[in-house]
Order: sequence, then C-alpha cells, then structure tokens
Amino acid sequence: MAIIQIEGVRVTYDEYGQATSGGNVVLVHAFPLNRTMWDPLVAELRGTFHLVVPDMRGSGASEIPEGATTMERMADDVHALVETLEITPFTLVGLSMGGYVALEYARKYPGELRALVLADTKAAADTAEEKAARYEMVKTLAADGPAAIAEAMLPKLLSEEARADDSEIVVKVRRMIETTSAAGIAAALVGMAERPDSTDLLSSIAVPTLVIVGSKDAGIPLGTAEAMAAAIPGAKLAVIEGSGHLSSVEKPLEFSQAVKDFAGALAPVPKASPAA
Ligand code: MLT
Repeated sequence: MAIIQIEGVRVTYDEYGQATSGGNVVLVHAFPLNRTMWDPLVAELRGTFHLVVPDMRGSGASEIPEGATTMERMADDVHALVETLEITPFTLVGLSMGGYVALEYARKYPGELRALVLADTKAAADTAEEKAARYEMVKTLAADGPAAIAEAMLPKLLSEEARADDSEIVVKVRRMIETTSAAGIAAALVGMAERPDSTDLLSSIAVPTLVIVGSKDAGIPLGTAEAMAAAIPGAKLAVIEGSGHLSSVEKPLEFSQAVKDFAGALAPVPKASPAA
C-alpha cells in the first residue's frame, strides 16, 4: 500500500502491473467499501493494464477529515493522485458511488480521461425520499455503528445467489463495511445525498464509455443503465448476467472480459513527440 498526502489528508492506494498497451486504469470503489473490493478484478486485469486503486477519503486506510465527503472532493483526490503519478490520460472505472465520482471527474477534468467505465451506477441525483433515507442512515450509524449499516446494505449490494452460495464474498463485504469508521460512512452518506444531478452531463461526455450493470442489481434497474448508455454518445452497454450490484465482486471474470473487450477496441494513446 502506498500513501499520498492531498492537502494534508492521507490517501492510500495500491498500484499493480505495467503501463502496457492496455494503458493506465484507476478503479474507484463503491460505498461503504474500500480498495480491496477490487481484489478479484485486479487479479484478472493486472496482466493487461497498469492499475491504480485508491481508498476514497474516509474509507479503507485513507484518512477522514471533518465534514461531508462530496463526490467533487473525491474526484479532486483522484485528480491529485493521477497528477502525482503522471498517468494521464487514463481510463476511470467507477462502481456505484465510484460511478458518481467518475461522473464528477468527467464534469471537471474531461481532458484527462482516455475512457470511462460506469458500473452499477446512475446519473440522477437522490430523490427527496432517497435523501431522507441517507440522513436516517446517519442516525442509525450514530446509534448502532457500522455493523447496522452492513446488515442494511448487504441485501442491496449482493444478489440472493451470492449471499446464499458464497459465504466468502459475504464475509469479505461485511468486514469491509464493519471496519469502515462511522465518521467515514456518515461523510460519504452526506456527500451522496447532496450530489448534483449529472443527467445533463451525459450528452457531453466525449470519451469512449462503457456502462456495466448486473442483471440482478437491486439498486440499478437495467432500464436505468440502458438509458444512461443511450444518453452518452457512442457508449456501449454490458450486462453481467446473474450478478447483483457489486458486479465486479460477484462476477470478476465477466466484468474483466467486458473491460478488456472495451479497452482493446480503443485507439492507442499517441506517443508524446520528442521536444523540438
Ligand atoms: C454503492 O454501492 O456505492 C451505493 O449503493 C451507492 C448509493 O448508495 O447510492
């Protein structure tokens, strides 16, 4: 694990593989998880891409400062990380909350992106009900701690089949949530509740984009993913059959194949011309 200080805040990340023809890829995790969520996918992709896998602030080993962790703040952290590592242009892969961060990135730093992968996510802001549910969750968190959040979130994150068949996945996801600090979870909840709507941004996304969704995602209906792909010029859609919301965790082989097929069809990054 490597550490970078971003405006005095410790942000942690892992780096894998070489910058081969597949190029640089940054993976941004879901809520309320951390970078280790990507372990099964990293195993499939590290031979093809140079992977950078950060903990968003308040998650994993990254520090949690005061206040909400907005999607913009997290996008700024990714920007600081890729600038430090000098890995632009890069492909940004975000799953669920990671997708909200990726959309903010596309709004603020479009010139740094080579491509986008938006997995199990949506462009719409929270409805009034969804927002209220997040603030209720903040109260639950204060009263009962992260274990109560794990209990509430697991059925949303994993398909019934994954919960029934693969206790290893359940144990791992539960542990990730239970080891996240209450302050980190609350800050992300407020950040998500207050995130802007990105629906109007979609038609302006000018980089190749892949939308991925699990066919059994309890939070993102297939129609939502289809509409998002249709709104982004030239975007492709990959449906991961049989998977719930955490499609890269439940079906890493299928997810990685979709990413490889997509990235394999991208034009090579032009080599920088030597200085005159
Ligand atoms: C996630 O998986 O990141 C969350 O489901 C996102 C959300 O709560 O909107």
